[in-house]
Amino acid sequence: MRTDTPQTIYRKDYTPPTYLVDTVELGFDLDPDRTIVASRLAMVRNPDSVGEGIELHGVNLQLVTLRMNGKTLHPGDYDISGDMLRIPSAPDEVTLEIETLTAPVKNTTLNGLYVSNGNFFTQCEAEGFRSITYFPDRPDVMAKFTVMLRADKKKYPVLLSNGNLIDEGDLGDGRHYAKWEDPFKKPSYLFALVAARLVCQEETFRLKDGRDALLQVWVEDGNLDKTDYAMQSLKNSIRWDEERFGLELDLDRFMIVAVSDFNMGAMENKGLNIFNTKFVLANPRVATDVDYAGIEAVVGHEYFHNWTGNRVTCRDWFQLSLKEGLTVFRDQEFSADMIGTDSGRAVTRIEQVRTLRQAQFPEDAGPMAHPVRPDSFVEINNFYTVTVYEKGAEVVRMYQTLLGREGFRKGMDLYFERHDEQAVECDDFRAAMADANNRDLAQFERWYSQAGTPVVTASGRYDAGAGAFALTLTQSCPPTPGQPDKLPFHIPVAVGLLGASGKDMHLTLDGAKAGTTAILELTEPSQTFRFTGIKEEPTPSILRDFSAPVVLEYPYTDEQLLHLFSHDSDPVNRWEAGQRLAMERLLKMTAAVGSGNKLALDDTFIDAMRKILVDASLDAAFRENALLLPSESMVAEQMDMVNPQAIHLARQAMRHTIGTSLRKELLAQYEANQTPGEYSPDAVSAGKRGLKNLALAYLSAAPDDDINMLAQRQFDRAGNMTDRVAALVSLIHSAAPGAADALERFYAEFDNEALVVDKWFAIQAAAPGTDVAAVRELMKHPAFTLKNPNRARSLIFNFCNGNPAQFHAPDGSGYAFWAEQVKALDALNPQVASRLARSMDRWRRYAPALQTQMKGALQKVSGSGKLSNDVNEVVSKALT
Ligand code: PHE
Ligand code: ZN
Repeated sequence: MRTDTPQTIYRKDYTPPTYLVDTVELGFDLDPDRTIVASRLAMVRNPDSVGEGIELHGVNLQLVTLRMNGKTLHPGDYDISGDMLRIPSAPDEVTLEIETLTAPVKNTTLNGLYVSNGNFFTQCEAEGFRSITYFPDRPDVMAKFTVMLRADKKKYPVLLSNGNLIDEGDLGDGRHYAKWEDPFKKPSYLFALVAARLVCQEETFRLKDGRDALLQVWVEDGNLDKTDYAMQSLKNSIRWDEERFGLELDLDRFMIVAVSDFNMGAMENKGLNIFNTKFVLANPRVATDVDYAGIEAVVGHEYFHNWTGNRVTCRDWFQLSLKEGLTVFRDQEFSADMIGTDSGRAVTRIEQVRTLRQAQFPEDAGPMAHPVRPDSFVEINNFYTVTVYEKGAEVVRMYQTLLGREGFRKGMDLYFERHDEQAVECDDFRAAMADANNRDLAQFERWYSQAGTPVVTASGRYDAGAGAFALTLTQSCPPTPGQPDKLPFHIPVAVGLLGASGKDMHLTLDGAKAGTTAILELTEPSQTFRFTGIKEEPTPSILRDFSAPVVLEYPYTDEQLLHLFSHDSDPVNRWEAGQRLAMERLLKMTAAVGSGNKLALDDTFIDAMRKILVDASLDAAFRENALLLPSESMVAEQMDMVNPQAIHLARQAMRHTIGTSLRKELLAQYEANQTPGEYSPDAVSAGKRGLKNLALAYLSAAPDDDINMLAQRQFDRAGNMTDRVAALVSLIHSAAPGAADALERFYAEFDNEALVVDKWFAIQAAAPGTDVAAVRELMKHPAFTLKNPNRARSLIFNFCNGNPAQFHAPDGSGYAFWAEQVKALDALNPQVASRLARSMDRWRRYAPALQTQMKGALQKVSGSGKLSNDVNEVVSKALT
């Protein structure tokens, strides 16, 4: 969206809508070049509004007619300025009839009504509906929709919209129609239509209350062999929400539609979820274990929105985390429950912690830092962030940690009892949690209002004479844009104490028994918690299960970390101890690169890694995670002055040492964790593949002919995409003789599978040997296009964000490339461009020579005139 002067919108300026909409009747005459949209709105004055007149949003619309209560309005009766159509004087009850024209085929933004592969799709969240027709396009206006679709029958045999199909038939002249009615009130952002040549897998599914629902997964012809897992995930989601939260599907029909041109992962339109193909299509030949897990999570996520987002929605877009944080938490719990074991659940938690540290902590420390409930924005599309989603999910998780599972469920029940079919605020959710549990959660509000990652500094004192251990926790939070000073948060800190044997001690806290893990509630700037009956000096295990999204500082010795790494009963903290050991060494080795010293890795560390690697009592998935080193960008986050090449060299050296020192054990695990027979994406099998392929990656970090042959053999014989990709990556990263040939064969075999071609680009983009020139070459490949977001992301984003040592080339060529691509993308698709613009967020932390060039690139983009609000907001905040 482009306007001349980008306006900042503030949460404090919220005012209720002047008119409410009871019913909407929409008629679409679909044509790629000239679609006619007719709407009839039954509106009433909002008694809660002090404003005057009717206010409708509209962007890039050609108005044909506007009638109020049967009378045609003429310019002068209404006023169009910017994105608003105002009718200054109107009776209390009105019927508006509006006809507009659009050209979907020209819409490259993938927002609003657009064409993809010759089919029509819509995307309306957050503010896309206003580019389809004039409407009060705000989530607190909830209306009942009826939709009539008309289109050519041959080209668009399938006509879908929200809710239930109530009529369909032929119109003559080769056109047909379908009429849909959504029985529930909804905001305009949940509207959707699809008019397309598609096929579906369908099934009736018995709901808990005995009703049958029709479930459909719609895809392009030729992809029906890739819909089983999405369908299975949908059925699992429906069951899970019935069982865990008592929430049932409220429609007779639930549809998932896959589209290859899509800006995000998927969209929860009522009864008609529209998905990026990436999160629908899978079979063992084309999809990896990670893809399967993504499908389960996203299918669950969108389905769970039916209650958390759709039945209860957001009052305004500042409340976005009300639905997103909660729904991410729900999809996380769903995925964990689908695995079922405690250790499997812990692995999902470890992956969540990694995402937070990799993406959310940097966001919270950078120029785009914002609270979970932002106070202002220029472009709402820029606030679909890891903070709103993932940190928001952590905030929801903390209620469950503080209130227990049952208490959390009581809070959810009260939330729906109070707010079904309403548009509400984050504060309403917090009130439901507090009231259902008789708890004071006033201070907890700061998790919504204050940005930045809190730091909890812990120190312990053991008093042998008194048999007491005192743990002092101190909290602080760094300044963020617009928030120089922070007040203390309400932080649940889960703590256990390990004895010398490695076993958990039984805890007594303030005289009361507290099991083996106590939830300490840190609410003051500093507090001391006293454990009594402690017979030996303990090793504290703090922030178990990552009980709060904070940075924990504790002066652990190597010895203590090794103790935790070997024994902690909390798998997340066990993993965490290993990460701390590795990070310390990565930082030391990075410093050594700078000073030209030898990059030595101590035996203690290698021995610890060996112990985990060969411990068959541990899940393969856990071992894989425990052996995975922090990423280069995570190391960068720990440094005041980032030198990406030094980090890369240090991490490569570390991987090389592991590959040589543990060669024998890695080879043994490589053999022991093969998964012969038919492919299954279940967590145990996926974990084995993960560990086996990590072993291969370490071995390939110190390659010789035998290792290259091993990778080559895996590539040649792999029975699934997970193993195929892992082998290809190993061949390329170790520059094995067969690498180029394998790449070529991979492409030739899968050139008809868009999602696999994306992998082909992505693997090359992130390979250490790929420099800017090589990326520019790849952009000339016939399969490359900027117009498809998945394709653009696969090459450009994976290079700029996933190949730091090359992207930050000292000559600045990576930055010049970035600036070019941001501008080129912005002309097509501002939402995608703006995501790429975020790659420069942390420019101030790089070594001076890089910093200057990064700033120059940002200035170049910012000064290049015609920019979208989306990109403009990101680059100007980066430069502030
Ligand atoms: N609401 C979608 C989701 O979380 C995300 C989305 C936002 C998709 C905006 C498209 C556009 O599930
Ligand atoms: Zn969502």
